[in-house]
Amino acid sequence: MNADADGQGGTVLPAQSREGSPVACDFVPSVLGTREHWDAVYERELRTFQEYGDTGEIWFGEESMNRLIRWMQKHKIPLDASVLDIGTGNGVFLVELVKHGFSNVTGIDYSPSAIKLSASILEKEGLSNINLKDLSFLKSCQHPSSALEVDLETL
Ligand SMILES: C[S@@+](CC[C@H](N)C(=O)[O-])C[C@H]1O[C@@H](n2cnc3c(N)ncnc32)[C@H](O)[C@@H]1O
Repeated sequence: MNADADGQGGTVLPAQSREGSPVACDFVPSVLGTREHWDAVYERELRTFQEYGDTGEIWFGEESMNRLIRWMQKHKIPLDASVLDIGTGNGVFLVELVKHGFSNVTGIDYSPSAIKLSASILEKEGLSNINLKDLSFLKSCQHPSSALEVDLETL
């Protein structure tokens, strides 16, 4: 049986066991797991930034960024360590990392509009030494032998 669980046209199929029979599963697909959703979000946020200069939403809040940076400082993560922000969105965490002295930071996101938005925000902040790449983390990880590393080397 198919169900439109999120009310947005997503088709939900029952999970299958290896043998093909349905199994109980607590998780249902969410629109938040689709690239179409994030493309639409960041196309809108990019237009808003271009029109009003608003950097947009920090999805997990400023405090979560500060907590992460405090953790990195407490654990003495070297300032020249390579830091990868997966699903960087508007790239605001990258800005915070650089402001706290981290010098080798990279943001990836599978939404090209998110990457355009983060590039525009970094430019406005006068930060040119941050790597950005329009890249799907999961797709890279499906390939053999660290394709993510290879993808990132092309930066
Ligand atoms: C909840 S938002 C968080 C954005 C930003 N990090 C923040 O805290 O405001 C999730 C982000 O992950 C990105 N994303 C989701 N799946 C991804 C994948 N497989 N590879 C790369 N980026 C992905 C989305 O495009 C979106 O920008």
